[in-house]
Amino acid sequence: MRKNIVAGNWKMNKTLQEGIALAKELNEVLANERPNCDVIICTPFIHLASVTPLVDSAKIGVGAENCADKESGAYTGEVSAAMVASTGAKYVILGHSERRAYYHETPEILKEKVRLALANGLTPIFCVGEVLEEREAGKQNEVVYGQLAGSLFDLSAEDFSRLIIAYEPVWAIGTGKTATAAQAQEIHAYIRSVIAEKYGKDVADNTSILYGGSCKASNARELFANPDVDGGLIGGASLKAADFKGIIDAFN
Ligand code: 13P
Repeated sequence: MRKNIVAGNWKMNKTLQEGIALAKELNEVLANERPNCDVIICTPFIHLASVTPLVDSAKIGVGAENCADKESGAYTGEVSAAMVASTGAKYVILGHSERRAYYHETPEILKEKVRLALANGLTPIFCVGEVLEEREAGKQNEVVYGQLAGSLFDLSAEDFSRLIIAYEPVWAIGTGKTATAAQAQEIHAYIRSVIAEKYGKDVADNTSILYGGSCKASNARELFANPDVDGGLIGGASLKAADFKGIIDAFN
């Protein structure tokens, strides 16, 4: 059966020293705990090689926030999936709405990133989600379907079953405005039904679908209590160990 997961997305926050301190603190906070979920921290590229050996890999997985859509070569400033994997990181966030909106990542580019991540043994945390106007026009299902189909539906069932999906309504990211538990459940169930239609019920039942967007300790329990919400992808509240732990505890 699918896993419950709480994953942090540090975004462009924390110097190397600050990131090391946060990873150490989280590791200590979890040292005597048995979280009822998988815990992942996704950090800027430069932190990965320092952070992975610092944390207990049995309790905390480490991931990147992006990777290149090319294998290697003359792509100044890019970081490949193989490079990410070589740090010991196991995960990579792909398709985050900030990358789609600010860095013009298209479904085709994301398809390549997913392919390369999988080929290098990384687990993609693939993000989908609509903007406010799309939600207000009742188009959220259509948008999310297009994002899933546009980048993922060429994958084999075996490859698809290695993914984690994150539903992040853009209007809820960093706004303090969370989707209601009912809104989250409704669209998560829709996403699972789409996966079932394409890859079968077993694959759908085994796919973890995380909610992201102003998730914090005070609302995590209500969100995660929904049958199709398998955890969270956490931005702001992953930047302090105590806040992040509060969300992890929502599974206890
Ligand atoms: P916030 O939790 O800060 O709203 O960010 C959510 C997010 O974008 C995680 O990827």
